[in-house]
Amino acid sequence: MLNILIFGGPGSGKGTQSDLITEKYNLKHISTGEFLRKEIAKGSELGVIADSYISKGQLVPDDLMIDMMEGLIKEPHSFNGFIFDGYPRTVTQGIALDNKMAKNGMKISTVLCLDVDEEILAERLINRGKYSGRSDDNKKTIQRRLEVYHEETEPLIEYYQKQNKLSRIEGNGNIEEVFANITVVLNEKIEK
Ligand code: AP5
Repeated sequence: MLNILIFGGPGSGKGTQSDLITEKYNLKHISTGEFLRKEIAKGSELGVIADSYISKGQLVPDDLMIDMMEGLIKEPHSFNGFIFDGYPRTVTQGIALDNKMAKNGMKISTVLCLDVDEEILAERLINRGKYSGRSDDNKKTIQRRLEVYHEETEPLIEYYQKQNKLSRIEGNGNIEEVFANITVVLNEKIEK
């Protein structure tokens, strides 16, 4: 199985690249951001709680996210594995994911970390904010999302480095260039 984790700052291209990776490698895409936005659109209890954090650029609490993920991971029979996009976002979530995967006889194969300069991240999100309708695509919230990324998510870099699973991906180029960088890493992984 090929179980990929993709992470990077807000606007680094996790969702865009996950779609391309999903198609090329026949994976099941799990995006916690997308899942939460659907819950918000439905007006569910989880959606209402999630929106109160997302619109401020903060993370939804770990216990809620870990419970949510418990329900999403099931053996992906017709796929070659999972791609996790936007999860984990804290070391606590990372440990919970490793445990959950192990319980199901699976493990994370590789972790892709998209490296993109902050000015480029902000520019991409401000541009998307003109049409996305997302409550977090505005200047103030983008700034907060970046801070939260540094404070709470970046420690995962060391967590996965210690497991020898981390690949840094140059993510400043256009979508095709970044995807080409990713496929080099994934093809190497598959050939091993
Ligand atoms: P989430 O949806 O995961 O948001 P994010 O991490 O802020 O990332 P984005 O979706 O904004 O960007 P992306 O990296 O996917 O880039 P994209 O491909 O879209 O989470 C939203 C919120 O939900 C979080 O802030 C948090 O509150 C909550 N949440 C989610 N998961 C959670 C968890 N596990 N724990 C706690 N809370 C959680 O691209 C962005 C834009 O750039 C697009 O317009 C795209 O077209 C463009 N673009 C992409 N690549 C390129 C490129 N190479 N060149 C030019 N433009 C590009």
